[in-house]
Amino acid sequence: MDVHVADHPLIAHKLTYLRDKRTDSPTFRRLAEELVTLLAYEATRDVRVEPFEIETPVAPTTGIKLSNPKPIIVPILRAGLGMLDGMVKLLPSAEVGFLGMIRNEETLEVSTYANRLPDDLTGRQVFILDPMLATGGTLVMAIDYLTSKGARDITAVCLLAAPEGIKHLEDELSESDIPVKVVLGTIDEKLNEKGYIVPGLGDAGDRLYGVV
Ligand code: URA
Repeated sequence: MDVHVADHPLIAHKLTYLRDKRTDSPTFRRLAEELVTLLAYEATRDVRVEPFEIETPVAPTTGIKLSNPKPIIVPILRAGLGMLDGMVKLLPSAEVGFLGMIRNEETLEVSTYANRLPDDLTGRQVFILDPMLATGGTLVMAIDYLTSKGARDITAVCLLAAPEGIKHLEDELSESDIPVKVVLGTIDEKLNEKGYIVPGLGDAGDRLYGVV
């Protein structure tokens, strides 16, 4: 597993306001979108492209465009939805699939309650969006599901991570030959006893969409 922590003052600045409990939902949504666009730049560094010919007003030249099949972006519902617009901004021709996962707040067990994805992901580059890599349970399950559909090129984009979640993911993937890349805004201090990232930003879904 390849973990990449984006190290940029604009990312740190936006994360600070995202964490602040006084930040309201509309501002939180805007900041999350802007952050994902910055992280998407790093996450798409190895996006597959192919050459094609164009003519500038001055001369012919060779450019590049995204290869087919197009990448697929998979936000994990609900909080991952708040990252979708920022990612699509950089990859407008990507397809979008959905995975609905929820964790039981008592046991911290993760279960899947919805999915809308192609049956066959063979040869597709997949970008998972999940703002909080906390215990790692959701990402482990999502990666498991996507690989069972044939995905072999997976990048997860997360705003914040706990060291415990990264370790869990690393342990789960240690036997796997599937190259998984994880792009993070930053790594926080720890998880608390309720499975929240500390200092974190609270419940990302609630802060994006309210307590529903
Ligand atoms: N999910 C969240 O929304 N926040 C956390 O801190 C951990 C998991």
